[in-house]
Amino acid sequence: MKPFTHLLDIDSLDDPTLSHVLADATDWADGQPAPELAGRSLINCFFEASTRTRISFEMAARRLGISVINMSEGQTSVVKGESLEDTFDTLAAMQPDLIVVRHARNGVPAALAARAPDGVHVVNAGDGTRAHPSQALLDVLTLRRAGIDLARSRLLIVGDLRHSRVARSHIRLLQRLGIGELRLAAPAPLLPDYDCGAAQLYQHLDEAIQGADVVMALRIQRERMEGGAGPGGEAYYRDWGLTRERLADASPACRVMHPGPMNRGVEIDSEVADGPQSLIREQVRNGVYLRMAILYRLLMARV
Ligand code: CP
Repeated sequence: MKPFTHLLDIDSLDDPTLSHVLADATDWADGQPAPELAGRSLINCFFEASTRTRISFEMAARRLGISVINMSEGQTSVVKGESLEDTFDTLAAMQPDLIVVRHARNGVPAALAARAPDGVHVVNAGDGTRAHPSQALLDVLTLRRAGIDLARSRLLIVGDLRHSRVARSHIRLLQRLGIGELRLAAPAPLLPDYDCGAAQLYQHLDEAIQGADVVMALRIQRERMEGGAGPGGEAYYRDWGLTRERLADASPACRVMHPGPMNRGVEIDSEVADGPQSLIREQVRNGVYLRMAILYRLLMARV
């Protein structure tokens, strides 16, 4: 087994660790008691906005008895000119067990993990467009708990694939787990400009959604676009919005996902987001159990 020292991307988990994480999260979501890890500590270190991921890691840690300290860029000495590296080294010198990092720049969690002292585990909570491994893992947990057999499923991801770290982590994870058929749909400027393996690319949602078993909508990541320009607004909703009418062309049992935050009336209609096919609130609920499993495995890997 490869040592599980840091969670930087999907490849940080070998197959046995991936299985353990999903199994632990399933057990705890089913109501089995979770271990008690009192005496451990976690620093949430977010250099980019977050609602779900930050609170979910905090909730996960607290449910395991791990103490949590939250910090964001505006509250640190980074605003006084201290480098990110010096800030990280300062935090690491206080000997927390875990540092959860989100940053707008690709590769920051990996660079910080490379300088972390022994016993300090770095968890990537999303870096730029590169990776958001805990989101992809919690989505797979959600699909499994919804009874969806990935090997037999046609899963469509629609929206801003180019700037999405969630999509990159999903493509890697779903292909590793043997997804039946992976479809990726976006207007040309938002199609992936990276390797997508055997995934099929579409430039029309009406074609891509035919018979889909799962549809995952993505937000337009305007903050990662040059000058903030790009498709959007009413024209985007007309051609790419996930509406009840469009969903009627998917499989009758099709489930709908969105990693959040959602822009209602842009990439998804409220009728769909809040409708009976939606798994969006389940994703959030399962995220806490999945993150508990990640923290637990990182801490267990060193004993
Ligand atoms: N899905 C996700 O990363 O959401 P937040 O930005 O709210 O953490």
